[in-house]
Amino acid sequence: MSFSLKSYLEQKRFVVDRALRQVFKDGSDCPKALWGSMKYSLFAGGKRLRPVLCLASAEAVGLPQKEALRIACALELIHTYSLIHDDLPALDNDDYRRGRKTNHKVFGEAMAILAGDGLLTYAFEWVSNPAGYGAKYHKKLPQAVHELGHYAGYPGMVGGQVDDVLAERQKPTLSKVLSIHRRKTGALLLSSVRLPAVLAGVPRPKLKAMTDFGWAAGLAFQVVDDILNETGDSKALGKKAGSDRERGKMTYPSAIGLEKSKREVARFTQKAVAALKPFGVKARPLAELANYMAGRTN
Ligand code: IPE
Ligand code: IPE
Ligand code: MG
Ligand code: MG
Repeated sequence: MSFSLKSYLEQKRFVVDRALRQVFKDGSDCPKALWGSMKYSLFAGGKRLRPVLCLASAEAVGLPQKEALRIACALELIHTYSLIHDDLPALDNDDYRRGRKTNHKVFGEAMAILAGDGLLTYAFEWVSNPAGYGAKYHKKLPQAVHELGHYAGYPGMVGGQVDDVLAERQKPTLSKVLSIHRRKTGALLLSSVRLPAVLAGVPRPKLKAMTDFGWAAGLAFQVVDDILNETGDSKALGKKAGSDRERGKMTYPSAIGLEKSKREVARFTQKAVAALKPFGVKARPLAELANYMAGRTN
C-alpha cells in the first residue's frame, strides 16, 4: 500500500491549523495585548508535530479524528507556551523562534510570561470541556486530562526544564542528559500519543506499546534537536544554532559526541517503530512520522 508522508503531514497540519483557528476565533473576553501576543507565537509556523502525532495515534487506536482534535490543539497550546517561556531571558534568552523574533522581543517580558500563562490555562479549559466529545468518551476524559497535567507539569516537562537550567555549565553525563531530555521534551511527546489511547480505552498491552513508542520517539526528537543546534544553520532552524554550546547546555553531543548521538537517534527510532507492532498497518503513519523526525533538518 502506498503512503505519502508528505501529503499526510500537509493534510493533518491543515486540519490542526483549522481547528486552532477555531479555538482562537473569538477574543472578545481577552485583553487585546494578550490576544495578540498569544496568537503571534501560536500562528508563527510551528511544525505541529505533537498534534499530528496525536492524530496519527488516534488512527492507530481507532479513535475518530474529531474526538482527538481537542487534545491535539491543547498539546500545541501547551507546547507553544513552553517555547515562549523557554526563550525568556531568565531561561535560554533566545531572540528568534519559528523564524521570527521571540515573543518577549516583540511584546515585552510581562506579556510573554502572561501569554504563556494564558495558553497553558486555556489548553486545560479547552481539553476538559465534555461538550467537545461524544458521550461514550466522557468516562475516560478525566484520566486523559489528568495525564496531560502530569506529563506537562513538574514530573514531566516543567521538571525537565528545571534540571536543564540547573545543569548549565555542569560536567555532562549520559544519565543526567537522558533524564533531562525524557522529561523536558519526551514527556509531552509521549502524552501526544498516549492520550488518544487513554481516551479510546485500549487494553493495557496496547497502552504500554504506545507508551514505549512515545518515550523512544520523544527522546530521539530531543537528541535530534541537540544535533541540529550543533550542526544546523539558524535560518533553516528558525532559531539560533550554536546556542547550546554558548550557554553550556547539557546535551547529547556534549555528553557522548556527535557521532554517537546520531547512532542513538537511530537506535531510539528503531525501538519506537518496533513498539508499534501490536497496531499493525494502522500505525503506519506513526512509524513514518518517527522516521521523519529522526531525519528532519528543522
Ligand atoms: C522545539 O520543538 C522544542 C523542543 C522541544 C525540542 P519543535 O521542533 O517541535 O518546534 P516547533 O513547534 O516546530 O516550532
Ligand atoms: C525545549 O528545549 C524544551 C521545552 C520544554 C520548551 P530546548 O531549549 O533545547 O529547545 P530549543 O532548542 O530552544 O527549541
Ligand atoms: Mg531550553
Ligand atoms: Mg531553548
